Amino acid sequence: MGQVFVTRRVPGRAVELLQGAGHDVAVWPDDLPPPANALRESLLQADAALTMVTDPIGQDLLIEAERLCVVANMAVGYDNIDIVAASQAGVWATNTPGVLHETTADLAFALLLAAARNVVLSDRDTRDGGWQMWSPTAFLGPDPFGATIGIVGLGEIGQAVARRAHGFGMTVLAATRTSRPGIEQELGVEKVSLNDLLQRADFVSLHVPYSPVTEHLIGSQELAVMKETAILVNTARGGVVDQDALVEALRAGTIGGAALDVTVPEPLPLTHPLYGFPNVIITPHIGSASFATRAHMAEMAARNIVAVLGGAEPLNPVNQPPVPRNRA
Ligand code: GLV
Repeated sequence: MGQVFVTRRVPGRAVELLQGAGHDVAVWPDDLPPPANALRESLLQADAALTMVTDPIGQDLLIEAERLCVVANMAVGYDNIDIVAASQAGVWATNTPGVLHETTADLAFALLLAAARNVVLSDRDTRDGGWQMWSPTAFLGPDPFGATIGIVGLGEIGQAVARRAHGFGMTVLAATRTSRPGIEQELGVEKVSLNDLLQRADFVSLHVPYSPVTEHLIGSQELAVMKETAILVNTARGGVVDQDALVEALRAGTIGGAALDVTVPEPLPLTHPLYGFPNVIITPHIGSASFATRAHMAEMAARNIVAVLGGAEPLNPVNQPPVPRNRA
């Protein structure tokens, strides 16, 4: 029997799964994440943690929480965890691959369509009483159908976006550093350099993980290469885009707009200049937020904990501690 700390209320059967395996489960009861001191206090008592992208799990915490054997992140991304420190401390870190790509690709497409066709802007205007009469010139936008999409990063989510893009008759370009033989052909995408993609795409959708390598992958130079009408969609991580450069590009009108599900920081303060652009959509990091997918993610994280606390290796490790800690 182990102590498991779950850092937020989660949907689905995750807590039941943990309890069913005989573990004691403490769930942080608030809608906001546990503050640093509460997270620390709880992890000092825990053999396992079921965490969110909003929980920073750094080196000090991993060393101090000496009972902790596994940090199961309820996310595919794990940039909130210091993976090197986790491995050194003997702590497994796990994620939730394979269950959220379709849901996240749906949101990327929803944002793309909403930005192109002024869905959010015109809704806001309608609620504000702006709809006087049908207008031949109001809320015009570019056609997604038949346009060119540039997908940056061709992992599970990028691939799922590519499949959707074909349904919209799009030409699909992809820039990826990872070699996946045959995948471009299978998906009907043209592999190009990032520069080519940015020059040619009407819509640029980001699907790379956040790391020192991808930090500010889209900066002022990259934004300058994009078409003046192009729309940037980011459902990856805020840090992949240099937000100051994005503000400058939007001010200068050198790109057509942006739809961002992720920002730095999250939430973005209401005073941030990005809120001032009518051609920007900002959503609160809801890429995987469907009923089924979030339940699936939580249950997957729980299964990783059950495996590790049962003495086995996790199902979805993102590290390989040389000497894994054992439950005390
Ligand atoms: C969400 O952002 C995730 O990485 O799953």
